[in-house]
Amino acid sequence: MKTVLVSGGAGYIGSHVTVELVQSGYNVVVADNFSNCDRTCFEGVQKILGRELPLEVVDFCDAAASDALFAKYHIDAVIHFAAFKAVGESVADPLKYYGNNLESFVNVISAARAHGCNNILFSSSATVYGETDKLPVTEQSERQPATSPYGNTKQICEDILRDCVKAYEGIHGIALRYFNPIGAHPSALIGELPRGVPANLVPYITQTAIGKRECLSIFGNDYPTPDGTCLRDYIDIVDLAKAHVAAVTRMVDGRMKLDYEIFNVGTGKPVSVMELVTTFEKVNNLKLNYRIAPRRPGDVTAIWADTAVGEKELGWKATRTLDETLASAWAWEKKLAGK
Ligand code: UD1
Repeated sequence: MKTVLVSGGAGYIGSHVTVELVQSGYNVVVADNFSNCDRTCFEGVQKILGRELPLEVVDFCDAAASDALFAKYHIDAVIHFAAFKAVGESVADPLKYYGNNLESFVNVISAARAHGCNNILFSSSATVYGETDKLPVTEQSERQPATSPYGNTKQICEDILRDCVKAYEGIHGIALRYFNPIGAHPSALIGELPRGVPANLVPYITQTAIGKRECLSIFGNDYPTPDGTCLRDYIDIVDLAKAHVAAVTRMVDGRMKLDYEIFNVGTGKPVSVMELVTTFEKVNNLKLNYRIAPRRPGDVTAIWADTAVGEKELGWKATRTLDETLASAWAWEKKLAGK
């Protein structure tokens, strides 16, 4: 059995990936410093799996602690999620983002390398593509200059991985570029737990529906799109987690075609903000309080994935429907509210 270290494994994406890895026959070591999450999702993961998992409370900015972790376990592959992810906060406090997101990744790669773990998967983002009019975006599409320090850390970490793979014999890297991950596990035992006011659309919708927020603001209805609202590629969190299993398996089985590979993780289908809102209302049989607000600075008009490379190389494709995903997001919000 191969062992995968999941850094940031107690967070939203990390917890769903942990479940899918274990259910696919991997040993998983979860590591997190709980700086941006509590134990809810880690406990939910153990409930879903019906057993305890090794948990290491580690800050990957601590090089010695990172090294000790790789010394303690025989790790075949590491998936690196541990990072800060709030776009607005990164603009207000760039050093927090450059310090944490870059240092932790450098430490993970160094420790992995020192202990013979040659397989490194990095959690990247479609944000690296920026505003582009050639849609859908393929993995070959050019990256645009980052519009926030957060986005810049994703680009720099991709470059760090690419350069390390080139320089150090034996190391393999995969960067997965996520589009917009949404939804929750069908068990409603794990899901997204935003701290404070959510910046992302779906948590804002579910919190409005439950009565925690008064009204959803739809940021702009005058974009050059069919209904005037922005287009995104919303990818179900369980589908996204399964893409990680496919990518890790490709690495540990030695099936990579290049030492450094990049894959889009999306559905390939653009959905507008308005469509998402009306689908949420329809599936969950409720009315959402919303209003049209001015555009949000920094938003791109439209972006969605070309998924052909992932389908061919990873043998992976998104399968959950938007209806199922939005029902799962609502089930999770109700569960949190004890309803
Ligand atoms: C954002 C980040 C991206 C990050 C991703 C993580 C920006 C510019 N980009 O993507 O870097 O990787 O989250 O999931 O912040 N919207 C509303 N009302 C709301 C919230 C959002 O109308 O209250 C709209 C936005 O204008 C956008 C869409 O919903 O058109 C999706 O927004 P969001 O969930 O924040 O994701 P992105 O901005 O696409």
